[in-house]
Amino acid sequence: MTALLHIHDVDVSAGDTRILHGIDLEIRAGEMHVLFGANGSGKSSLLAAIMGLPPFAVTRGEILLRGERIDILPVDERAKRGLGMAFQRPPALDGVTVQALADALGASEALKREADALDLGLGVFAGRDINAGFSGGEVKRWEILKLFLQQPTLLLFDEPESGVDLEHIASVGAAIGKLMRGGREPRSGLVITHTGFILDYIAADAGHIMADGRIIHSGEPRQLFRHIQRNGYTAPIGPAQAAAQA
Ligand SMILES: Nc1ncnc2c1ncn2[C@@H]1O[C@H](COP(=O)(O)OP(=O)(O)O)[C@@H](O)[C@H]1O
Ligand SMILES: [Mg+2]
Repeated sequence: MTALLHIHDVDVSAGDTRILHGIDLEIRAGEMHVLFGANGSGKSSLLAAIMGLPPFAVTRGEILLRGERIDILPVDERAKRGLGMAFQRPPALDGVTVQALADALGASEALKREADALDLGLGVFAGRDINAGFSGGEVKRWEILKLFLQQPTLLLFDEPESGVDLEHIASVGAAIGKLMRGGREPRSGLVITHTGFILDYIAADAGHIMADGRIIHSGEPRQLFRHIQRNGYTAPIGPAQAAAQA
């Protein structure tokens, strides 16, 4: 079966700076993958390159969605094909309210339906400009709510739990689970996490560890996470260690 997302031997640069090297990653329909890595290892750059956000450009290899090359397409064309992303630090959209975006997407029902679960009371929230003056936690919850309006098939999450207070972590995790289960076509996801929180909410199928712009390990996500907790991000995983941690 063709992978939903196939990243084949990809290098990514921002301007003259090469950030990612020889990335290979395959995500099949219905799969959730988790991406771990120290700060600065290249995780956000990888998501940006998949989504097509400047200044990140694929300089070698290719990115395919359902077998179609997308790394040459602008971001709106990728979004039309089913890519959507919850940003780590999204820009504010002055003059565009939450309600206006929902209306433009024909998704005001979805906005009403999902806002409460994420504790974003629409009475006030609908009239606010997107991400303008939102608290850190509101930004993160809004980025998830936005995906309910867009209904992408491949969901990208950049540290969805960071800055979210403890009382809202469960609702963010539950919302990600609900997004993954929605839609007619099976959905796939790629989540960047520092804390591993998502492992409690989603049956993650695979995990990957990035270091210095490369994927250095892939495997069972909980096992990788335990390895990171004990040994850090860059310690090698030998067959003996992997067995001991199973
Ligand atoms: N716009 C940019 N121009 C040049 N270098 C960048 C840019 N954005 C990120 N980088 C660099 O790329 C590396 C990876 O960053 P990033 O993908 O944000 O890492 P992570 O998300 O894993 O913390 C870092 O060294 C960072 O400084
Ligand atoms: Mg990042």
